[in-house]
Amino acid sequence: MSGHDHQSRIEELLGQMTVDEKLGQLQQLAWAWGTGPGGADTEQAEAAARKGLLGSVLNIVGAETSNALQRIAVEESRLGIPLVFGLDVIHGYHTTFPIPLAQAAAFDPAVTEKDAEVSAREARSNGTHWTFSPMMDVTREPRWGRIAESIGEDPYLTAGYAVAKVRGYQGADLSAPDRIAACAKHFVAYGGAEGGRDYNTVDVSEQRLRNLYLPPFRAAVDAGAVTVMAAFNTISGVPAHANPHTLTDILKEEWGFDGVVVSDWTGVQELIAHGNAANEAEAARRSLTAGVDMEMVSTTFVDHGRDLLASGALSQERLDDAVARVLRLKLRLGLFESPYVEESAALTAPTPEARAAAREVAGRCMVLLKNDNNVLPLDAQALRSLAVAGPFADSGDLLGTWTLPGAPAAVPVLAGLRAALPDTDIRHAVGVSSDGFDTGGIPEAVAAAEAADAVVLVVGEPPAISGEAAVRSELGLPGAQEELIDAVAAAGKPCVVVLVGGRPLTIGGWADKVSAIVMAWHPGIEAGPAVADVLTGAVVPGGKLPVTFPRTVGQLPLYYNHERTGRPSDPAAPDVKYVSKYLDLADGPEFAFGHGLSYTTFSLGDPVLSRERIGAEELGAGATVEVSVVIRNSGDREGDEVVQLYVQDPAASIAQPVRRLRGFRRIRLAAGEEREVRFTLGADDLGFWTNDPAGVFTVEPGEIHIHTGNSSQTRARRTLLIT
Ligand code: GLC
Repeated sequence: MSGHDHQSRIEELLGQMTVDEKLGQLQQLAWAWGTGPGGADTEQAEAAARKGLLGSVLNIVGAETSNALQRIAVEESRLGIPLVFGLDVIHGYHTTFPIPLAQAAAFDPAVTEKDAEVSAREARSNGTHWTFSPMMDVTREPRWGRIAESIGEDPYLTAGYAVAKVRGYQGADLSAPDRIAACAKHFVAYGGAEGGRDYNTVDVSEQRLRNLYLPPFRAAVDAGAVTVMAAFNTISGVPAHANPHTLTDILKEEWGFDGVVVSDWTGVQELIAHGNAANEAEAARRSLTAGVDMEMVSTTFVDHGRDLLASGALSQERLDDAVARVLRLKLRLGLFESPYVEESAALTAPTPEARAAAREVAGRCMVLLKNDNNVLPLDAQALRSLAVAGPFADSGDLLGTWTLPGAPAAVPVLAGLRAALPDTDIRHAVGVSSDGFDTGGIPEAVAAAEAADAVVLVVGEPPAISGEAAVRSELGLPGAQEELIDAVAAAGKPCVVVLVGGRPLTIGGWADKVSAIVMAWHPGIEAGPAVADVLTGAVVPGGKLPVTFPRTVGQLPLYYNHERTGRPSDPAAPDVKYVSKYLDLADGPEFAFGHGLSYTTFSLGDPVLSRERIGAEELGAGATVEVSVVIRNSGDREGDEVVQLYVQDPAASIAQPVRRLRGFRRIRLAAGEEREVRFTLGADDLGFWTNDPAGVFTVEPGEIHIHTGNSSQTRARRTLLIT
């Protein structure tokens, strides 16, 4: 879509609108959550809609309710401009898919496109036009609860998922009855909050802003995302809600974004708390002039816009530009032609097909972290008895953060295993609660394990301590779960841990005591069947970690794409003192970015380059280098592997990370099958942004090391020379 679509209709409408009607289009109010007419903010919304002084409402749910409010705006206001309805459809509407961090672990953007397609169909049929998703904040902070909504620590992986999710939500025609507007959020660098504390300070160099945090947003905008949401944090002292450099210089001018920038919840008013605005009038001025177009929940634009315009503090051009963007969104959604949703066509529950899709996606997201003596997959024929224990074994609370009220609970793991192992005697024992310290139930769990051929423990972090404002200072399993693991593992039976959660957890205290660990994340509505699929081998795990698992919180931030430093530590030389390391902890993570095992084995050949040298100018003119890798399934069963390609620039004007992911391909191979995987590298993959605020991307002459492998701890390497 070009920035000139619907231009004549927009100009016609602008010419008819009063200042108050224009300011009204920039207002989004929150609907009383889940209640019908009569809630305090419901009446506020209805009154504003009737006067034509409202642009949008968030959190309205249901075809009938949204039609009722829409009818007021369209049929009772002076110009009949329709409202646009937004909602946090983050990983599902009725059908809850695995959390985005889980989806990232699939290293397969198709899974997120599937989530988005199903979500869009269910949401639009119920009167939602716009989702505040995809969240694409790159983060290295597992203490930050919103890591659950992210795609993890890598900008290249996040960018790939951003494109797929925008495509899944918006499709080719945003006015279609099964598509919704996407929202790339939170612009920008929200994942860099100091200490992992939500809403906290972000101080970031221009080069890190442009090389780490901005690429996913550029990808989303280039993929056609029609809205962007501003972030709560400051960016080097300037709040993202009042930052002309990011909102206007980069997003709107450098990238040509012609959609709507919506504030986050009261994000404009919070400029006062930030210490950036003395009062609401100044907050409105700073935010509007910096580039925010629509205000969510707080009402400073409507309250002070008229005076700001009269005083010249707000230009008529900026006001009209903001209104034009909102009108363009509504025109693109087809709301002027079709403002109402067909109530009889509203989808009211997950379809079998949607459930099947959620189950398949969940299976692809799981990561096999360890599998000693190949205790997995469980052998349904040989397994006479199985103990299933832990606070999440028979729990439906596995949907994860940002799940919509009323979404059906997850199918428990216990039910999934019973269905998958009908001839196995399965005994269940809770053991301990998810966060309590009562260990009175542990003996029952131990007894069940002692009486069984094997034991599955389902433990981890409940969704209640994951997501927004859910920041943890420790990353261990809550409550007495680790005592449960110790006691059950001591029973001496093959012990499989299914780990659930919304972030990397520190598991070193017990990981060596158990036979196998599957990271299942918060796997969504089909949790149980998907876990059973993986444990029984119906689905061979092929997921990889999109985030580093630290061994202790004290290591944070810990991530794979780090700079070398002038004194890199060498695990092979642990006694060297004056290097970048801890006195009291050996180097390295519990599990690295890109790590994940399978039930089969794979062998990867060395990378082969289509050319060993290439000119920087050639690259700038679009030339590329092909990298091919032969991969073989050297095991005895079919499985997936994720071939990963990383680049490293060992000598550059700005110190480059030791690895940068620049290619990944999840590939399924039959036992013994061999295939060649190809990647293409161009200037964008090999260069980097400098610290120049004007935005300078450079490809410098010199060596580039090309690494390929099945995790970030790659081995094979080839050198490309840029001349
Ligand atoms: C929240 C979140 C944002 C969400 C919005 C509306 O505070 O930061 O991601 O879309 O408010 O619920």
